[in-house]
Amino acid sequence: HPHLRMDATCGLMLEGVALNAIADAVGTPCWVLGGGTLKRRLARMRAAMRDAGLDVGIHYAVKANDHLAVLDLIGREGYGADIVSGGELARTQKAAIAPARIVFSGVGKTDAELEQAIGLGIGQINVESAEELAIISAIATRMGRTARVTLRVNPDVDAKTHAKITTGLAANKFGIPFDNALGLYARASSLPGVQALGFSTHIGSQILTTGPYRAAYARVAELVRAARQAGLDVSTVDCGGGLGISYRTEPEGQPEALAGAIKAELGDLGVRLAIEPGRWPIGPAGVLLSSVILRKEAGMDVPFVITDAAMNDLARPSMYDAWHGIVPLAPHAPGQAVAATHVVGPVCESGDTFARDRLLPPLARGERIAILDTGAYGSVMSSTYNSRPLAAEVLVEDGTWQVIRPRQAVKELWQDEIIPTHATEQA
Ligand code: LLP
Repeated sequence: HPHLRMDATCGLMLEGVALNAIADAVGTPCWVLGGGTLKRRLARMRAAMRDAGLDVGIHYAVKANDHLAVLDLIGREGYGADIVSGGELARTQKAAIAPARIVFSGVGKTDAELEQAIGLGIGQINVESAEELAIISAIATRMGRTARVTLRVNPDVDAKTHAKITTGLAANKFGIPFDNALGLYARASSLPGVQALGFSTHIGSQILTTGPYRAAYARVAELVRAARQAGLDVSTVDCGGGLGISYRTEPEGQPEALAGAIKAELGDLGVRLAIEPGRWPIGPAGVLLSSVILRKEAGMDVPFVITDAAMNDLARPSMYDAWHGIVPLAPHAPGQAVAATHVVGPVCESGDTFARDRLLPPLARGERIAILDTGAYGSVMSSTYNSRPLAAEVLVEDGTWQVIRPRQAVKELWQDEIIPTHATEQA
């Protein structure tokens, strides 16, 4: 984490800003995102593609972190967006990302969402089934428009990642079965209201090696060649997202290696290429700050450190057994003693656990920690379970910080709730 540094007096710093100063002002729990880190990582992806001699559009996967401040940065830096809902599409428009730079993925797009996308004239819709293709053709024809589509192919490749985030196996709900893709592409090429651009694929998330990518792209290349042989036009291949980061000690996925895989399998097809990265650019850029409510030690083999952040804030550990680094904010002496500790939130579920048997210095009541690598799939997956207001969010840029979302007020939790008037009262 080149953007995180332990300062002997200020404690943990992110992009040159003391995280303690942010926590003093805003309180905890609080998400802090490093805008410089996000920009640098996106630029590295762009450079990796360019240096491989590839023309690759980068469509940031909005689902990883859909904050308007993030989308504004994405738009200003000239990237596109990959969206999966009408809500995400509306956010990209609020952030002024040009419709031409938007790709719409997802296994169940509603008619209303398709109308919204086709009406805006977005760049590309990734079609996930024969049924959806027919619906898109009908909607676009009715609107007097042309929808630009790719077919999302399920290559039946094992991405070797967590089962809940694997998408490229035949048994998963995603994409068109490989064996049906050519026939459906021929149909797409002649349907009214539809312009068939080519193919897309996405095999899963947190992928750390290039093997699964190469296997998937080889199959897609096979399809492109077969389609062309059948006299069909293919101009585009969308390579999906999924590049993984280092949560623990595993080496992170390398954009240069991804570029190599794309070039090796798809480089000579003369198609316009795209990727849809979410986690890789933004995951390592963010931390979640939290304070120790209390330390529960009496009668325990391993002490419980109970934090003011919980599974409703960061769901990944409870949902995927994900491992996130935990670092005290206070400067600690080198060689300070560490001991196995369970780090848990206050929610009334045993799954509300951030870490078990983690080796940490003794964290006293009131001390603060940073939970690392929470820029992606962190705040976006938060809920208000247990009537816990959404945490504050802060963006660090150019050595200064700004609140980009104040902590939710308790009364906002019920502001849209309606107590029905009862028949007896009406009478
Ligand atoms: N494109 C498509 C079609 C996707 O479904 C996804 C992610 C992406 C791109 C971006 O993938 P990424 O580059 O971020 O790996 N909540 C889970 C991750 C779910 C990923 C869903 N799809 C987690 O916290 O691990």
